[in-house]
Amino acid sequence: MANIAVLGAGYVGLIQAAGLAELGHRVAVGERLADRVDQLARGVVPIAEPGVAEVLASHEVRFTTDNAEAAAGADIVFVAVPTPPSQDGSADLTFVEAAIDSIVEVLAPDAVVAIKSTVPIGTTRRIRRYLRKSHPDAEVVSNPEFLREGSALADFRSPDRIVIGSDSQGAAERLAEVYSGLDAPILTMGPEDAEAAKYASNAFLATKLAFVNDMAILCERTGADISQVTDAMGLDPRIGSHFLRPGPGFGGSCLPKDTSSLLSQANAHGFAFPVLANVVEANRLHQRRFVAVLDRELGGVDGKRIAVWGIAFKKDTDDIRDSAAIAMIDELLRRGATVVVHDPAATLPDVEGAHQVAEALEAAAGADALLIATEWGQYATADPSALGSAMAGTLVVDARGVIDVGAFEAAGLSCIPVGRGPKKE
Ligand code: UDX
Repeated sequence: MANIAVLGAGYVGLIQAAGLAELGHRVAVGERLADRVDQLARGVVPIAEPGVAEVLASHEVRFTTDNAEAAAGADIVFVAVPTPPSQDGSADLTFVEAAIDSIVEVLAPDAVVAIKSTVPIGTTRRIRRYLRKSHPDAEVVSNPEFLREGSALADFRSPDRIVIGSDSQGAAERLAEVYSGLDAPILTMGPEDAEAAKYASNAFLATKLAFVNDMAILCERTGADISQVTDAMGLDPRIGSHFLRPGPGFGGSCLPKDTSSLLSQANAHGFAFPVLANVVEANRLHQRRFVAVLDRELGGVDGKRIAVWGIAFKKDTDDIRDSAAIAMIDELLRRGATVVVHDPAATLPDVEGAHQVAEALEAAAGADALLIATEWGQYATADPSALGSAMAGTLVVDARGVIDVGAFEAAGLSCIPVGRGPKKE
């Protein structure tokens, strides 16, 4: 059992804290937001992740606003604070630097600092150099996370791989020991390798999606069906069947941020990274193209009432960070539409011209068109005849490809699903 400190009680930090507590470690969490610490101390968990509340309730995890208090006496200090994008797309390291500064005074001479936050290649080594000014033996290792929202605790419990980036074999072994209760391959490499592996994984996934979304456009124009195409592609083990679902562009807290950051790192090293530059640009187009479809089909959306089903960046989460749905709503409003939104979990931020209602059918009432922006299960099983009666118009644009087009058309609706164009004669 090790004494663990986790700095940051966001998605990554809370999963790390819960997961390590479950493995039998003694865990203290430092979080600068006092409200959040109060909530957590009362057992209220601010993230909607299955299982986390239960684990935190049944294990002793300490929460404090004082990072130094959390880190005092810790064997391993995990840094899990945000690295949001700056204006130019590069990662803003302010929170990471502040977190390091907050523990310098109390850090045990033989403690290992593990960077879980996604940081630009070279950051871990830079932090080690900084800490070694006051702590000559300080060890800082890179230990990136590969968690998916909605299944983050399950991902912690059975990871595909654990990546540890360190030049010091001793530090790497001490970190590996913390995870010894998990059955997963542990890859030890240099800190730059680990940092790059994290970005490369997310950027590659984003590239896969940008390709599929571009291919979906071509299918729409040629009469091919993207779902048939991806079924065939996915059976090639070199391609794999995951991450081939077309949609309105990738969103969420990681893929957009990490692709922009990796591109900005490449540019800073004089490398244009053309493939990645195009992925970032293509996603910007993908996030808005369904608004152009609505505009074309309705003869302009100005003054029209558009129902939007789903605002979360994917199903089964309440997270709207970088959600394509939000980008589409903004664009609809900019073009003069009135927007009525439904989402079973996520909340629409205050914007003029759009409001949220509690039921999907209520959102569709009197709408000129419906845009399905998130692939929630309840939208896939919606009753087309009830929908047809509720709407004023007949157009359904399905940016996620979830509906049964035949059933919808039989109910008098005209459907434009992602990746499927009219059949050619
Ligand atoms: C992602 C990575 O999967 C994870 O490994 C990393 O650590 C953090 O970023 P997450 O952001 O939770 O996780 O969501 P993910 O399920 O990967 O989806 C990202 C975006 O891609 C979403 O907008 C989703 O709707 C979209 N997506 C995903 C598709 O459009 N099609 C797919 O087939 C898969």
